[in-house]
Amino acid sequence: MIKQAPSDIGLHELLQKRWSIRSFDQRNLSFQDIEKLFQAAAWSSSSMNEQPWRFVYAERGKGHYDDILSVLMPGNALWACNAPLLIAVFAKKYFSDGTTNLHAWHDVGAACMSLLLQGVSLGIYGHQMGGFDREKAKLVFGNSDDYDIVSIMALGYPGEADALEEPFKTRETTPRVRRTPELFAFTSFEQL
Ligand SMILES: Cc1cc2nc3c(=O)[nH]c(=O)nc-3n(C[C@H](O)[C@H](O)[C@H](O)COP(=O)(O)O)c2cc1C
Repeated sequence: MIKQAPSDIGLHELLQKRWSIRSFDQRNLSFQDIEKLFQAAAWSSSSMNEQPWRFVYAERGKGHYDDILSVLMPGNALWACNAPLLIAVFAKKYFSDGTTNLHAWHDVGAACMSLLLQGVSLGIYGHQMGGFDREKAKLVFGNSDDYDIVSIMALGYPGEADALEEPFKTRETTPRVRRTPELFAFTSFEQL
């Protein structure tokens, strides 16, 4: 199923269609499409063009899939285990000259959104997750202090909500809601 944002507000179709699915079709992603997802991330903007995003990806049944899955909180792992692609997302904390990159997470988030929107254009949907065991992830991924673990993404073609157990089935069909711009876009700093 596809849960679109309202169509009467003039959003681009990709923005309208993107949402965080939990039910995945069993179809695998092609190598070419996986490549396109990462090309989309590559062409995101970043502070000093540092491109601090790093991704470790695994297709279901291959590579580090089970390692990535193993660090997710149970409430995520229960549905993410059906995704054909899992991606662990990292931010390189330092610029090439060794100084701290204060915008690393910002730029990684932007790259993730590019990746997700490219996915939507291909019929592939993703779900970003901050619900993972950070300490366990550090051990399982063996990652150095130069990189923060930002998130984990599950991606694939959308499946049927009926394939999910509760409470995920209900969440899958609950309408998406948003704050309206007047609640977060201001013309003075006092309004913050
Ligand atoms: C950094 C980040 C962490 C998130 N963590 C989780 C998570 O652990 N579990 C989950 O089900 N959804 C998670 N989400 C998905 C959000 O709940 C979802 O994006 C939000 O409810 C808006 O829904 P939409 O993406 O369908 O528009 C996360 C999203 C982001 C960007």
